[in-house]
Amino acid sequence: MTAVDAAAGRRLSVVVGITGGIAAYKAVGVVRDLVKRGHDVHVVPTEGALRFVGLPTLEALSRNPVTTSVWDDVAEVRHVALGRRADLVVVAPATADSLARMAGGLAGDLLGTTLLATEAPVVVAPAMHPQMWEHPATRANVRTLQDRGVRFVGPVVGALTGDDAGIGRMAEPEDIVTAALAVLDGPAEASRAEASRADGGGARLPAGSGTTARGDQGDLAGVRVVVSAGGTREPFDPVRFVGNRSSGRQGVAIAADAVRRGATVTLVAANVDAGLTAGLGATVVPVGSTEELAAAVHGAAADADVVVMTAAVADYRPAEVRAEKLKKDDQGDTMTLELVRNPDVLADLVAARRTGQIIVGFAAETEPDRDARIALGRAKIARKPADLLVVNHVGWDAGFEREENAIEVLVPGGDVVRETSGSKADVATAVLDLVATALT
Ligand code: CTP
Repeated sequence: MTAVDAAAGRRLSVVVGITGGIAAYKAVGVVRDLVKRGHDVHVVPTEGALRFVGLPTLEALSRNPVTTSVWDDVAEVRHVALGRRADLVVVAPATADSLARMAGGLAGDLLGTTLLATEAPVVVAPAMHPQMWEHPATRANVRTLQDRGVRFVGPVVGALTGDDAGIGRMAEPEDIVTAALAVLDGPAEASRAEASRADGGGARLPAGSGTTARGDQGDLAGVRVVVSAGGTREPFDPVRFVGNRSSGRQGVAIAADAVRRGATVTLVAANVDAGLTAGLGATVVPVGSTEELAAAVHGAAADADVVVMTAAVADYRPAEVRAEKLKKDDQGDTMTLELVRNPDVLADLVAARRTGQIIVGFAAETEPDRDARIALGRAKIARKPADLLVVNHVGWDAGFEREENAIEVLVPGGDVVRETSGSKADVATAVLDLVATALT
């Protein structure tokens, strides 16, 4: 199914706002991809963006006139027309400054007026240095925008401008386009469209409805939840890694249930198939290795109320990552790979836990005997005193890559507070029922 099909066969009117960061050159890929999928794209760069990418390039790729000024085409009331016509607004890259302007509702340029005039879903792809992303001012602006229904794609962990690396890199253009179109396809959006139709169309829904990843009702309304899902991969050369079989289904089910219950959700997705997270209604941060997962989880956990560590995180990584592919001729008949310990993200979260923050760990155990498995869980929660530890039975034919799961949930001290089996959605509900109770 193409994205055009996904959006009910419509040719969408999409505004792409580009703000002034180095990643502006990559926004060209967002414009090109949307045009290639058959959409009518109107680019609104800020003055700063035009220092990084030329106006003729944007006009040629979008096949529409490009302007930054509210004084052009005044007769057609362009400063509001673009936003009102739009089915979707994407801002990529969104700098720290532009997030602050959006949060403050500033309308000093065409992008500002367009964002205030639109009733369409707004999807932003931030790009900035980690210090700027983690600054309390930016965190507060992100929260304000999320509460208003703005959807975030990334930032992701990776190499940044200069010599540094970390969280703050803009998501890849293709991922931005997929996530933005999925917003129109998501359950929240479907009900928004429904409400709009019932209303004769065009009515502004109350803040927080429609595109928001946070519902107004539900026992987790207003709660910020971070979920890690999938399995980390630890590279040892450009083409190979040490990994595990976790598909991410259980973590995605928890994220989906948290969204359904009204939470604002960030899913840190370690090598999770994009098809599993499309239309989820959560901010998805794709990561690869444990180092990347740790940076993304700690960044998101700083102002989270709940952190659920479903991901299968590699305890070890190769001591050396080669720049070139390892050749078997250099190894002979046997090969030894030296591994070193990874940081334990869950243990670090527990150690840094804020008062009132709920942290949930998972323990994947192959032990088939229930009591013996619970004993392993008890030892684990004693070592890493999370608020809840979900012990799940895994094996060659249990747990991984399947729809079903079986769990025992322990609390510090070792009591079993819940025991259930069923679909991963059932398990998600059981875990979040306990989280909701713990929060009250
Ligand atoms: N975890 C983590 N960081 C790691 C390893 C695990 O955050 N480096 C988290 C997982 O997300 C999960 C829990 O810790 O929530 C699993 O605990 P762990 O003791 O690592 O379990 P196993 O990997 O199964 O370890 P063991 O070999 O002790 O059974």
